[in-house]
Amino acid sequence: MTTPTRPANPAPLVSQPPTISKGLEGVVVDETAISDVDGQRCRLIYRGYHIDELVGRATYEEVSYVLLNGTLPTRSQLVSWTHQLDQARTLEPQVLAALQAMPRTADPMAMLRTAVSMLGLSDPDPDDETLEIIRRRAVKTMAKMVAIVAAIGRLHQGEPVRPPTTGLGHAANFLAMLLGRPPTELQARALDAYFVLLADHGFNASTFTARTVVSTRSDYYSAISAAVGSLKGPLHGAANRKAMDMLVEIGTAEQVEPYVQRTLADHKRFMGFGHRVYKGEDPRAKHLKAIAQQLGETTGEIQWFNISERLQEAVWKAKQLYINVDFYSASLLHYLGIPTELFTAMFACARIAGWSAHVLEQAANNRLIRPLAAYTGPRDLRFVPLDQR
Ligand code: ACO
Repeated sequence: MTTPTRPANPAPLVSQPPTISKGLEGVVVDETAISDVDGQRCRLIYRGYHIDELVGRATYEEVSYVLLNGTLPTRSQLVSWTHQLDQARTLEPQVLAALQAMPRTADPMAMLRTAVSMLGLSDPDPDDETLEIIRRRAVKTMAKMVAIVAAIGRLHQGEPVRPPTTGLGHAANFLAMLLGRPPTELQARALDAYFVLLADHGFNASTFTARTVVSTRSDYYSAISAAVGSLKGPLHGAANRKAMDMLVEIGTAEQVEPYVQRTLADHKRFMGFGHRVYKGEDPRAKHLKAIAQQLGETTGEIQWFNISERLQEAVWKAKQLYINVDFYSASLLHYLGIPTELFTAMFACARIAGWSAHVLEQAANNRLIRPLAAYTGPRDLRFVPLDQR
């Protein structure tokens, strides 16, 4: 009897081609109890509260508390939270010195990323990643973020950096540090509402970046500096800067139509329009629009609002694109006297609450984030020695 022989090259197993979801579109990678971005109904919920319920009623201090702790603070919890933020807002001399040593031409987001990373260097418990320590770092970083961004703004204008004011709210404190004078009640409320509206937003790119970093059991500061880097891109946080540049380029309401036609002809994007998840208008946009209009009317610079409104209508007519969070953020931040180059860093000042809450949630129930990729390159190549290539 002859022994059956194995074929030299067994027939390859036929396997189904993998399903690829470019940009992870439509992929649900984990659960979260922090926020719900409901794309179909265009709703945004923080810890059970619809943002319409919170904006104009809850301060950023209350919203950051609920995002990080799960429930709204009681009066005494809020006093303690506010006190912790007050205590942590002043920048360490070495962080300030580093910011002062950076080139005047440096991008504010690159400066912020470096400064956040520096905060970790003086952490008293560098090897401790317990939830309690992460929570302490989150409060400290949230408080200092506004001081860092205000310092960047002052240094870019060649002005001396101003310290925070104890007892002033988080948003008002930022404006006082940046502008060198206490803000009006309207300005402080406007920025506070902006911070509330942008505090969290599900598994967006920068938040997912933070969660990915922390999933390797790396530290809080690495996660937040990586998130700042992710937010810096024009398809994410830098769209607010680009939206303001677009308004300036348009210049007058009469120039809106020609601008739209030019942009369509050049196959370029309208910044502050479109969204991966929302199938209609971003639920934050109407609030930002109303605040921008109110500020525009009081500053006497209503043209930026008027151009925005006309552009919103024209882009809808031409391409049925809805506005997103960044569109009216642009005129709103401009009306507050914030230089355009700082806009994306303002977004970071708001989102630090969400990033921190997600870092905590990931650390509390971790599994290493490690997706697969479908390899499309060649196989079985033979190595060619250097002198034969
Ligand atoms: N201007 C012009 N066309 C657009 C825009 C826009 N702003 N947004 C989407 N489109 C069009 C695309 O050209 C594409 O059309 P096509 O299929 O004919 O080529 C179609 O809509 C789908 O676009 P995608 O880029 O595939 O959609 P995606 O879900 O990846 O895009 C994104 C989402 C990146 C936000 C996109 O809408 C965009 O680039 N917007 C401008 C930048 C922006 O405002 N970013 C901020 C987003 S919100 C945030 O991160 C805070």
